[in-house]
Amino acid sequence: MTDNRIGLIGPGRLGLCVALLLEQQGYPVTAIEQNQGYLAALQAKNLDSPEPEVNKLLSASKIIRFSSDLQACLTDDHDLIFIYVPTPENDRGYDHSILMEVLKNIMSHGRRKVPVTLVVGCTTLPGFNQTIDSQLESLNYHLVYSPAFIAQGTIIKNLQHPDMLLFGTSEKKYALRAEKIVNQLTHNNPKAHHMSLISAEITKLATNCFLTAKIAFANAIGDLASQSGADQKVILEAIGSDSRVGHKYLSYGYGFGGPCFPRDNRALNYFARETGYTLQISEATERANEQHTDFQIAQLLQTTSQQEEIYFDHVTYKPGTDILQESQQLKIALALAKEGRTIKVSGSHKVVQVLKDNYGDLFIYEVKN
Ligand SMILES: NC(=O)c1ccc[n+]([C@@H]2O[C@H](COP(=O)([O-])OP(=O)(O)OC[C@H]3O[C@@H](n4cnc5c(N)ncnc54)[C@H](O)[C@@H]3O)[C@@H](O)[C@H]2O)c1
Repeated sequence: MTDNRIGLIGPGRLGLCVALLLEQQGYPVTAIEQNQGYLAALQAKNLDSPEPEVNKLLSASKIIRFSSDLQACLTDDHDLIFIYVPTPENDRGYDHSILMEVLKNIMSHGRRKVPVTLVVGCTTLPGFNQTIDSQLESLNYHLVYSPAFIAQGTIIKNLQHPDMLLFGTSEKKYALRAEKIVNQLTHNNPKAHHMSLISAEITKLATNCFLTAKIAFANAIGDLASQSGADQKVILEAIGSDSRVGHKYLSYGYGFGGPCFPRDNRALNYFARETGYTLQISEATERANEQHTDFQIAQLLQTTSQQEEIYFDHVTYKPGTDILQESQQLKIALALAKEGRTIKVSGSHKVVQVLKDNYGDLFIYEVKN
């Protein structure tokens, strides 16, 4: 606990969860949000988040202040600021322009009297944080890169039970300060890894790159089993019981998708190419993921009749979220519908509305809440 307030810029899917958990630990938080409609919902504590715990924690919150004014978190009573603004994918890895603008705006307020720890939680391309580290330091802002290892639908749970904490910095004492606070949000005393900014950026992407490779591997072995009349379930169960392999992310299912895995896998390869190294494994993983989706489409076309209705319990990239981005399930449903099959898709009111807007009567819809 501290008398100081904690600043947090970008209380979106991830940032809001961090803000709510900080508040639960007794930290007054000043959260800066620029989307006026969303800001109004946060201020009114009237949010319809699909993320478990979030609506409840927000309605119970008492010491979070939401504002659109960046200056509100740059006053002297804030000596630690988290940043969770979007860094969407582009053809150069990530688009850092929103993050850069936030950092420039922070710096335009001039040198700080007391040192401020600036914790960037956004996903960035390796090397990005290094480019602004010394500029920030000259104004008494001390950069710590600390990405969270979370999944949509379990963000609060993952923040409370992370397998590890990761801190990249050029000044360890500020990373230790960040660790002390982030660790208070956890319930499992995770190991903290401290390293340079670029090492932490690579670690974050490499972890997701490994997981995508593991998912793609499990699906490829499953497809091979299915192709050869073998039992994919018992094969993967047995492979996973080798402790060097492990069961997590080793079951047969849809290919990976969503806002993080595919783009982090691609971004690490983009970064690798920039250094003159080709990360073959990242390219192979992406191709294997596409091959698996094509395999599933072909298999469904073969094993169902033209008249049969094919039902999708969800077409979001995983159940329990409203995210359709890079959803392999949606890709399959679309491919089958385009082959003239009758496809019924189920989803929340919000998801069904987005599908109707984009695909009209291509599907039959079922609203499930
Ligand atoms: N959501 C995840 O599961 C997840 C996982 C790992 C990493 N990340 C990373 O965390 C970062 C945030 O991701 P997210 O999913 O929470 O994004 P999000 O889009 O849900 O939230 C970002 C929020 O920042 C706000 N914002 C944009 N510009 C702003 C500005 N100038 N000032 C204040 N607020 C601003 C947006 O309106 C939005 O509410 C990204 O870099 C992402 O890659 C997210």
